Amino acid sequence: MYTEKVMENFTNPKNVGEVENANAVGQVGSPACGDIMKMSMKINDDGIIEDVKFKTYGCGAAIATSSVATEMIKGKHVDEARKLTNQQVIDDLGGLPPAKIHCSVLAAEAIQAALEDWEKNKEEAKTEA
Ligand code: FES
Repeated sequence: MYTEKVMENFTNPKNVGEVENANAVGQVGSPACGDIMKMSMKINDDGIIEDVKFKTYGCGAAIATSSVATEMIKGKHVDEARKLTNQQVIDDLGGLPPAKIHCSVLAAEAIQAALEDWEKNKEEAKTEA
């Protein structure tokens, strides 16, 4: 029912944990299952995502999607990361069972929440200066 790539990313997930000195943090909860996903990132002045890590109470599908989603945006510009959709993540994994689609939404939404947090922090830094 799960593709090999899902299983591989579930048993050996990348980018688990929390980025030290993160300047972008996003946390979202799933209305479908109540699970929580937290993304932390270190974004440099050029808008490049230098590091990204996730922490989740979610299931195996949430772990697998976050693992590939973080890999997809690591080293990329925030503008590119903003365009990432959960469908791209699902496609990269070779598909997910329909009952698990909401889990992949968690990863995509937490990334967007972290990017919004970064924008907000930037604006605040500007007004303080
Ligand atoms: Fe909650 Fe998958 S069932 S994240």
